[in-house]
Amino acid sequence: MKKIQVITLFPEMFDGVLNTSMLWKAQQEKAAAFELVNLREFGIGPRQQVDDTPYGGGDGMLLKPEPLFAAVKHAKEQDPTAKVVLMTPRGQRWKQALAKDWSEASHGYIFICGRYEGYDERIVSLVDEQVSVGDYVLTGGELPAMTIIDSIVRLLPGVLGGEQSAEIESFSDGETLEFPQYTKPAEFEGMKVPDVLLSGHHAEIEKWRAEHSIKAD
Ligand code: ADE
Repeated sequence: MKKIQVITLFPEMFDGVLNTSMLWKAQQEKAAAFELVNLREFGIGPRQQVDDTPYGGGDGMLLKPEPLFAAVKHAKEQDPTAKVVLMTPRGQRWKQALAKDWSEASHGYIFICGRYEGYDERIVSLVDEQVSVGDYVLTGGELPAMTIIDSIVRLLPGVLGGEQSAEIESFSDGETLEFPQYTKPAEFEGMKVPDVLLSGHHAEIEKWRAEHSIKAD
């Protein structure tokens, strides 16, 4: 079972995503277990402060180190071998090959979602990996974490149903090859499904799919 913990100020953002469709199924099948760690609970003082102004001046607030360190310590206590991952546009770009590696790793993951204008850089000392979902800046790490979790969990054994999906995965050592697909009806508003797909010739169909595939890198 893949244990995935997420440190966030907005755990409610994950409710729909983790409890719907494949990610919900993954939990039912005991392929994955998700734990949301609310950073606010590790905030300082009666107001449970989690952010503060930047040294050197400038706009905005940064996530303070103490709550983040305490939240990571808590998550590590739940899963001592877990790798700590920081969501940041400065991280390495996420890709399908990483999703495959991480789905096969024997340890769990702790995702830290940054928020607001940034975080105190000292958090990086706790982090094993820094990951970006693309060269654009989002308001927080929550959407990137959901994206990455989805891409990992769908590859866990027992999550993707049906041989068809597994077949698509196996095209190139787990690197997804996407080819155009069609379902009934064979003709819709004058647009026809390619004849080869209706032919029943398995080898021809495979050839057509290979020719029309896009390789993920
Ligand atoms: N946080 C804000 N933008 C991000 C991005 N592009 N990838 C990962 N984390 C982020």
